[in-house]
Amino acid sequence: MAIIESKINKQEKTYLKNQSHMQTLVNELNSKLQLIHEGGGYKARARHQQRGKLLPFERIETLLDYGSSFTELSPLAGYDLYDDKLPAGGIITGIGKIHHKDVMLIVNDATVKGGTYYPVTVKKHLRAQEIAAENYLPCIHLVDSGGAFLPMQDQVFPDKDSFGRIFYQQAQLSTMGLSQIAVVMGPCIAGGAYVAAMSDETIMVENQGTIYLGGPQLVQAATGEKIDPETLGGADVHCKISGVADHLAHNDTEALELCRNIVAHLPSSNPDSSDSFSKESEQRLPLYAAEELYGLIPDDLRQPMDCHEIIARLVDYSEFQEFKSLYGTTLVCGFAHIDAHPVGILANNGILFSESALKGTHFIELCNQRGIPIVFLQNIAGFMVGKHYEHQGIAKDGAKMVTAVATSRVAKFTVIIGGSFGAGNYAMCGRAYGARQLWMWPNAKISVMGGDVAASLMTQIKKTSSQNQSETSDSDEIKKLQMIQDREQDIKMQFEDQGSPYYSSARLWDDGIIDPVQTREYLALGLSLAKRKPFDSEVNWPIFRM
Ligand code: COA
Repeated sequence: MAIIESKINKQEKTYLKNQSHMQTLVNELNSKLQLIHEGGGYKARARHQQRGKLLPFERIETLLDYGSSFTELSPLAGYDLYDDKLPAGGIITGIGKIHHKDVMLIVNDATVKGGTYYPVTVKKHLRAQEIAAENYLPCIHLVDSGGAFLPMQDQVFPDKDSFGRIFYQQAQLSTMGLSQIAVVMGPCIAGGAYVAAMSDETIMVENQGTIYLGGPQLVQAATGEKIDPETLGGADVHCKISGVADHLAHNDTEALELCRNIVAHLPSSNPDSSDSFSKESEQRLPLYAAEELYGLIPDDLRQPMDCHEIIARLVDYSEFQEFKSLYGTTLVCGFAHIDAHPVGILANNGILFSESALKGTHFIELCNQRGIPIVFLQNIAGFMVGKHYEHQGIAKDGAKMVTAVATSRVAKFTVIIGGSFGAGNYAMCGRAYGARQLWMWPNAKISVMGGDVAASLMTQIKKTSSQNQSETSDSDEIKKLQMIQDREQDIKMQFEDQGSPYYSSARLWDDGIIDPVQTREYLALGLSLAKRKPFDSEVNWPIFRM
C-alpha cells in the first residue's frame, strides 16, 4: 500500500507557532476536565464520603477490569449552560470493560445537585443509550439520583426526549437482547425508580439505596402516613418483600463486585473490542508521531492544512490507498486501517466543489458496497458559492453527497479537526447525520457560517431592508447605519462564542472534545465496537438527483 510521505519541517516558524497554540488549547481542555472530574464541590463530596459511599469515579474504577481504560462520553455536558454549576451534566457516561466484555456505564453523580436530572442530564443519558443501541452494548446503571430537577420540570418531564424516554429506551434495548443492570447505591426516586424496576437484574446497597415512587415527605403529605426511607423502600424491603430488587449488598464495593459477577455470566455472542494500544497495536502505529499533529493545525482556521499530513499520523503504518487523487482534490478520499480495522476516510482539503462532492459520493458508495466503516475528518468552510458554480449545479452535487452520507449503512465516525460550517457540516457527517461517535479537537469551530461572514451578511440584509423602508431623514439614516455597524460587532462576538467547541460540547452536539494526540485511540475503540453491529440499516439506495 502507498505510504504518505510527510513533508513538514519541524523547525519551521509556523510549525512551532501552531504547536505552541495547540498545546495551550490542550492544557486549557485538561484543566477544565480535571475540575469537572471532581464533581460537586468539596462539601458535597465530603458529605457523600461520610455516608460511606464511593465517589462516582471510584465506583467506575472498582467496577471495571483492573487497569482497563474508560472512554468517557461528553464530560463537558452542561458546561456554562445553567446558572448552577453542573459538572459533567451531573451524570458520567462511557464505555469500559467488565470481564473483558464491553459495557456502557451510566453513573449518576450524587455530589452534583443530588444527582438530579437537568435537561442536559436527560440528553446525556439518552445519548449513552443510543450509543449502546448502535453498538450492541449492555448497560450498567449506577443509580444515585433525586430524579427530575423540579424547578425545570417543564424541560425535563413532558416531551418526547424527556425523562420518560430513558425508560422507553431501556425497554427497547432489552428487546434487542441488551442486558440492563442497575446498582442502586443511593436514592432512586419517583419516575427514576423505573431505571431499577425495568432492569433485568437490580442490586441494592443496604441502608443506602432506596427505591420508591414517592419519598417519605410526599407520602406524609399525600396520605398522612409517617415513614422513614429505609422502611418505605430500602434494600431489605425490595430484596425480601416487594421483589423490586434481586441482590442485596452491604456496601458499594460489594455491590460492584456483584455487578461484575452478573456481567461475567452474560452471553458474549458479539465480538468484544480489544484493549486499545495493546502490544500489537503499538506495532501498527503510524510512521509519524501523533504529537506532531499539534504543529500541523493552523491557529487560524482560514489557513489551509494538508489533510494528508493528518491522515499520516492516524492510520496504521501511515499507509493510505488514495481514491481519485487527481480529481476533486479539495476532498481527500481513501482506504486505510486504524488499529487493524479497515476504514474509508473522507478528509477536507479546502472548500467543497461539485467535483469533490461527486467524488465523495462515489467513495461512500464504495465503502457501502464493501462494508467498510467511514471516518470523516471535518474541516470545512462550506460549499463553493457564485454564479459559475450555481449554474454548474453545485446544489444538486452537494445534495448527492448529503444523500449518500444520510443513507450510508456502514458505521460512520466524525472528527471535527477544524471548522464545521454550513452545508459542509452535513456533507461531512455532522451531528444530524448519525455518526456513531463525533469528536471535536480543541481548535474546532462550529456554526452555520463564520462570524465575519455572518456579520457582514446581516449588515447587508439590514441595509437593504432599511433602504426599502419608507423615506427617512438623513440623520435617521446615519443613526440606523451606526446601529447596524454596532450590531455587526455583536454578531461577530455571538458567533465566536457559540462556535466554540465548549459551547458545542456543553449541549451534546458532539461526544466530547479530545486531545488530537488521542484521536487514533478514540477511533480505534469506535471501530472495534462497530464490529458488534457493522451496519446501521439495510436501506435501499435513494434517488440521487443527476
Ligand atoms: N429537584 C431539584 N433540586 C433537588 C432535588 C430535586 N428533585 N433533589 C435534590 N435537589 C437539590 C437540593 O435542593 C440541593 O441543592 P443545593 O445544593 O443547591 O442546596 C442538592 O440537590 C442536594 O440535595 P440535598 O438534599 O442537600 O442532598 P442529599 O444528598 O441529602 O439528598 C436527595 C438528596 C435527592 C435524596 C434529596 O434531596 C431528596 O429527597 N430530594 C427530593 C427528591 C424527589 O422527591 N424527587 C422527585 C423527582 S420526580
